[in-house]
Amino acid sequence: MIKVDLSGAKDFFDAAGPDFAAAAAAHRTLETRSGLGHEFTGWLDLPLRIKDGELKAVIAAADKIKRLGQVLLVVGIGGSYLGARAAIELLKTPSHNSISGSTEVYFMGNTLSPDAISELVAVLGDKDFCVNVISKSGGTLEPALGYRVAKSLLERKYGRNTAKKHIFVTTDATKGILHDIAVNEGYEMFTVPDDVGGRFSVLSAVGLLPMAVAGIDVEAVINASIQEMHDLDLRSPDNPAWQYAAARQNLYSRGKSIEILASYEPSFRYMAEWWKQLYGESEGKNGIGIYPASVEYNADLHSMGQYVQDGPRTLIETVVSFRQSRTEYKVPFEMGDADGLNYLAGRDFSSVMQVAMDAVKAAHISGGVPNIGISAQSRDEAGFASLVCFFEMACALSAYISRVNPFDQPGVEAYKKNMFRMLRQEA
Ligand code: PA5
Repeated sequence: MIKVDLSGAKDFFDAAGPDFAAAAAAHRTLETRSGLGHEFTGWLDLPLRIKDGELKAVIAAADKIKRLGQVLLVVGIGGSYLGARAAIELLKTPSHNSISGSTEVYFMGNTLSPDAISELVAVLGDKDFCVNVISKSGGTLEPALGYRVAKSLLERKYGRNTAKKHIFVTTDATKGILHDIAVNEGYEMFTVPDDVGGRFSVLSAVGLLPMAVAGIDVEAVINASIQEMHDLDLRSPDNPAWQYAAARQNLYSRGKSIEILASYEPSFRYMAEWWKQLYGESEGKNGIGIYPASVEYNADLHSMGQYVQDGPRTLIETVVSFRQSRTEYKVPFEMGDADGLNYLAGRDFSSVMQVAMDAVKAAHISGGVPNIGISAQSRDEAGFASLVCFFEMACALSAYISRVNPFDQPGVEAYKKNMFRMLRQEA
């Protein structure tokens, strides 16, 4: 289970401290499905439903995709790609695609840059590949055009009929343009449940199919998620989701309007991207909301460290770590000790990193930045599941505490409408 450490934030709370009564009320609202956007709270029991539902078919499709080629192209944007990418980078490695023997997974449909599209097509070269088109609405422009590109490449390579066997679609069960195309073309289909919004959908086929292709044990992810959701139902200030949600809302009321999610693991980069979407789209509305940003330490200590230490005092620093390292790596001994660092020789990097983390935490707190610590047990399937469930639960509670609908995104719809109108006018 996730542990939340508020010791570095306590001096920044108001006299009353985090409002656990508000967290309890938000939890009740969520559980009784009586709050704003309650029709999109299906993620609460999604792990249980998927276990009895599509999980086996997802694993079978992943095996088929691996047999059909060396590459899977995932076409999707926002909640229809960030979770899978986050999982693959965290649990495999950001260099997953260069590790021999693994099925490579690339992401398209999240950009309109012709350079990025051409470069990806060049990377594909003449490799055998499959495509997983993911869109809940089925009408988002970027993945719709990505699908066109992918389909044309497949048809050129395999011919129209065989190409169909290389396309897997994840979309709404009954409606939408992508749904209708998939039915007409006879593509293998998976569903984004009606009651689950895009950014809460990583534990459905949306995230699980690409993850399974990359070699992640999705059954282990789901089993751990079932346990995690059960544990997060705890009605007490000991609930880590209550602690995080109530703490950040308290800090927000004290003028801390930007939260930077920091991690010392480079493999966490896309988890932070996933988190930014989850919190940004869920909370940033009606003129309020903490702005979610991210940094990757130690690298960003030498680019953003100055701002964090010394810039406007509007920041909350939330540091995600793993209590157990996967591997050991010792600092090498150097004959002659030219750099004077032999006092570290033989010491494991994890212990050097821990000292860096403690030093940064103390410095930033003394610079006026409250620090929230979040730790998962280990960088594995269970650790991933615990982070996903925890962040989703805390996000919904936090949004309800601030009285916004966590599950809509009217601002995103506004840009989509404008773009389609302007493109049609030009045509
Ligand atoms: O959280 C959401 O619902 C959105 O951010 C979507 O994930 C994103 O807009 C992509 O939408 P779709 O899956 O409908 O193409």
